[in-house]
Amino acid sequence: MQVLKGKRLFYEANCIGCHRPKFVTRRDSISEEQSFQLIWPYTDLLLHDMGEGLADDRPEGMASGREWRTPPLWGIGLTEMVSGHTLFLHDGRARNLLEAILWHGGEAEAAKQCVVDMTKEERAALLAFLNSL
Ligand code: HEC
Repeated sequence: MQVLKGKRLFYEANCIGCHRPKFVTRRDSISEEQSFQLIWPYTDLLLHDMGEGLADDRPEGMASGREWRTPPLWGIGLTEMVSGHTLFLHDGRARNLLEAILWHGGEAEAAKQCVVDMTKEERAALLAFLNSL
């Protein structure tokens, strides 16, 4: 129940604007197992301006110093078990998922603000959903 409520909040806060839930892989992939598969990566694989707070002012390739690629969220609940830590964002500055969300700015400012405005129960539900991915 809590996870489903968190899922609804994830959609309502428009996290899906960047963390796009699902894709179907191309039909003509070189390996048959990978072709025409429904996958749930929760990313649009695109660069976004994430604001001053996350900027490193070091342009790289096509990305300005404020732009980062949306990381996939699938499996994010297993980070501690697999990697032995729960550090997130491009430089590992966030010590947990909530901190990672609260660092969002720029194009993600409105989505971040939705989380700031949530009740404690709603935030807990959102985190339960993320940990279920
Ligand atoms: C405008 C696009 C955008 C929106 C909207 C957005 N995100 Fe993100 N998200 C990103 C980008 C880009 C990063 C990587 C930033 C970095 O590495 O500094 C990120 C990182 C994260 C991370 C850390 C993942 C990791 O592996 O380090 C979490 C968790 C996350 N977002 C959750 C959310 C949630 C929950 C919402 C909705 C409240 C949301 N995001 C809305 C683009 C977005």
